[in-house]
Amino acid sequence: MNILVLLGSPRKKGNSESAAVTVVEQIIATIGGKAEYIRLAAEEIAPCIACGGCEKTGKCVVKDDMIDLYGKVDGADLIFLVAPTYFYGLSAQIKRFIDRIQARWSRKYLLKSPFRKEDTRRGYLICTAATKGKKLFDGSVLVAKSFFDAIDVPYGGELLIRGVDQRGEFSQNRKEIEKAELLAMEIAAIFSA
Ligand SMILES: Cc1cc2nc3c(=O)[nH]c(=O)nc-3n(C[C@H](O)[C@H](O)[C@H](O)COP(=O)(O)O)c2cc1C
Repeated sequence: MNILVLLGSPRKKGNSESAAVTVVEQIIATIGGKAEYIRLAAEEIAPCIACGGCEKTGKCVVKDDMIDLYGKVDGADLIFLVAPTYFYGLSAQIKRFIDRIQARWSRKYLLKSPFRKEDTRRGYLICTAATKGKKLFDGSVLVAKSFFDAIDVPYGGELLIRGVDQRGEFSQNRKEIEKAELLAMEIAAIFSA
């Protein structure tokens, strides 16, 4: 099983990354597989320029690190979108990547030509935030669902972690770690069935 972990925080070893590592390493310890972590902040990814090129070909005309990332997305069985909450949404570092998935959206909805559609694949969102409001993650969950729909990966669910701000706070929060471990066991059960 190929696991792709798309890290959207500019902060190395921050809360969202620590949560993702907790989930992913537990899945691998339980059912095996290999994970690739991509730190999107370190990738050269231009924002979508809305040129309409992908509407004709299904391919993005912008040549940067996305060329490799399209292939990694297509090749993954399990994908994690991982990001901090910035102003009630996903960080810009992950959003610019998601916007470039417009080429996949065009291929699916305009050209009616999905690339790899298998019900066994799954996509999950892992998102952290400093505060605890009820609607804190509403925007991010909608974006994540739309992203996974565009790449034809069934949405599995989300791990939403409130009340963590400074680096390291997730790793000191037993309750949130337990939530992460529980999600890992659920995902492991799905993939080993
Ligand atoms: C630019 C910026 C905007 C933020 N906006 C929010 C917000 O709207 N709501 C919130 O609860 N936390 C907000 N935060 C806090 C982060 O979501 C929080 O610190 C998170 O745990 C960081 O995850 P990371 O360590 O993976 O980067 C913001 C932080 C930054 C730097």
